[in-house]
Amino acid sequence: MNDLKEIIKGRKSVRTYDGQKLSDEHLRLIREFIETITNPFDISVDFVLMDAKKNGLSSPVLSGEPMYAAGKVLKKPYADVAFGYSFEKLVLYAGSLGIGTVWIGGTMKRELFEKAAGLKEGEMMPCVSPLGYPADKRSLKETMMRKGIGADSRIPAEKLFFDGAWGNPLRPDKEMADILEMVRLSPSAVNKQPWRIILNDGMYHFYEKKDKGYVNDATGDLQKIDVGIALCHFCMGLEDAGKNAEISISDPHIEIPGDVEYIASVKIH
Ligand SMILES: Cc1cc2nc3c(=O)[nH]c(=O)nc-3n(C[C@H](O)[C@H](O)[C@H](O)COP(=O)(O)O)c2cc1C
Repeated sequence: MNDLKEIIKGRKSVRTYDGQKLSDEHLRLIREFIETITNPFDISVDFVLMDAKKNGLSSPVLSGEPMYAAGKVLKKPYADVAFGYSFEKLVLYAGSLGIGTVWIGGTMKRELFEKAAGLKEGEMMPCVSPLGYPADKRSLKETMMRKGIGADSRIPAEKLFFDGAWGNPLRPDKEMADILEMVRLSPSAVNKQPWRIILNDGMYHFYEKKDKGYVNDATGDLQKIDVGIALCHFCMGLEDAGKNAEISISDPHIEIPGDVEYIASVKIH
């Protein structure tokens, strides 16, 4: 993807669309890209593209969206993290084409979307996103919503990325600082940014700092999806810098607060 850093910096949730359908060329590129999406957890995410009008799909926070992308995944451990990783790849690719997206996990009539996506027993469809061209101006509703959530702000790096121990700020070199900035700018449910990283023994260990109310049967743990998104930005940033990321799940048992859960570790080659 060209200019990954710029795409990540420039990405903002889009809730106001111009009503136009995607061009045939963009639709073809999106379909082709979807076929290439993988994640490090070997849990496949099945993407479905749905016309909004034909399927009667809408969201109270959106206007003018012509279609939706949904993702389905078998319910199992790490399904939510894998889903976040894979779906974010689509979000960033769409962004590189000038196509707007916004993760939607709550503000929709879930049953309608699950039916249209053909969700089966044992699967979950945690989130969807509209795909369309951004309108020239955000709706008032969207502007108010962004203000309410504080969508333009992020937690400072020293409170997210630690060296050796929880809470000890990491002082990365310029290259790693740029990659961690891509992580910091990730989107997250209600902009909570629940990802934390501890660098220890040469490995970047990813954690989830949990808030209450983000886990349910239909979505899994939305904050694990957020950590999957952060992991996606980290690995794509590393790849962009010409480095290889090796991901493993092996808890280093570093002392962490009670509301924090270990998720995965990244070794850089
Ligand atoms: C897992 C997840 C679920 C989300 N669910 C919703 C939602 O239901 N409705 C909505 O309007 N925004 C939703 N968002 C978008 C976030 O509010 C948004 O990413 C965050 O406020 C940061 O704003 P930005 O994406 O413009 O950087 C969700 C984001 C994520 C990652």
